[in-house]
Amino acid sequence: MRVLSVVGARPQFVKLAPVAAAFGAAGIDHVIVHTGQHYDAVMSDAFFEDLHIPAPDVHLGIGSANHGAQTGAMLAAMDDVLLTHRPDWVLVYGDTNSTLAGALSAVKLHLRVAHLEAGLRSFNRRMPEEHNRVLTDHAADLLLAPTQVAMGHLAAEGLADRARLVGDVMTDVCFLVRDAVRDRPAELPTGVDPASPYVVATIHRADNTDDPQRLAAIVEALGAVPVPVVLLAHPRLRARAAEFGLDLSRGSVHATDPLPYPQMVRAVMGSAGVVTDSGGLQKEAFLLGVPCTTVRTETEWTETVDLGWNVLDPGLTRVPDLAARAKPVAPEGAGAAPYGDGKAAQRVADELLSA
Ligand code: UD1
Repeated sequence: MRVLSVVGARPQFVKLAPVAAAFGAAGIDHVIVHTGQHYDAVMSDAFFEDLHIPAPDVHLGIGSANHGAQTGAMLAAMDDVLLTHRPDWVLVYGDTNSTLAGALSAVKLHLRVAHLEAGLRSFNRRMPEEHNRVLTDHAADLLLAPTQVAMGHLAAEGLADRARLVGDVMTDVCFLVRDAVRDRPAELPTGVDPASPYVVATIHRADNTDDPQRLAAIVEALGAVPVPVVLLAHPRLRARAAEFGLDLSRGSVHATDPLPYPQMVRAVMGSAGVVTDSGGLQKEAFLLGVPCTTVRTETEWTETVDLGWNVLDPGLTRVPDLAARAKPVAPEGAGAAPYGDGKAAQRVADELLSA
């Protein structure tokens, strides 16, 4: 059986790693298509190297543009790729413009589509990711859901018969990497002592980066944290800050480039807490037993909030006290494993082989 994976942005490379390994073990002929949505070495190539992902078979080289132009360019390029490789399944991941383009181009050619990380909802229709999730779920033939909550959302939209609970492949990769890096020192920017409390922060969502006052307020709140803040600056954040004449390194903030995945996991493991607007990092903080403050009005990963590990703080009032916040009972100790057992990718392979 041949499966063609479409990936393009950083979180998709992380999800692809355990899936590619499971497909290899299951003898699935796996074609990897990289749209080129993320193209910088630190945003793309480093993930393939560090997570031992086979090099893409096809690279579309689309790059950045506004949403319509970026998604449209991917659609235009995908027809030839799909007609050349004729896969039994097209597998799309998560919620980016590459996800939607992969799903749409496949259904137009009557190829079967499976959506990994199906059923997540923020119910915030301002987010491009929310449009991508809803449209991809309704186009796909097989919905591979990470959580019971996601299964509930799919059922509420009339999609229960196509949905399968497989667990979260990000748990697979997070636990493997955690065990591999446990004995390594955290690599932090000069001036941040890994032996003393520090916070890891990421901000990249358009709602937070694209308004000068909002971005200034976020940097101000991070600067007021009483311990060093390692701000892993996404290219969008750097670009907007430069445009607005805003210095990211103010107060406690040490702005630095995004880290390779293993180093990011190690930095989070050693931290006193995480401040983020990323979906993936909220969950990684939870899986690694670190408290998180999320700079958004809502989250797709509601279990992290319900279990006491994550606080939603769009008003930025809770950011400065993060490092002092008491940790709740460890999720594993409390028997809560809403994101699966670290074997989700194997179930993805099984579902595709049996469907
Ligand atoms: C995308 C996803 C988002 C995901 C995020 C992870 C969509 C709609 N959004 O957002 O869901 O959480 O990736 O990072 O698909 N840029 C570079 N180098 C790169 C990549 C991007 O400089 O390697 C710059 C681009 O020029 C652009 C900005 O970063 O100005 C945003 O990139 P884009 O891929 O459009 O969206 P993200 O904000 O990364």
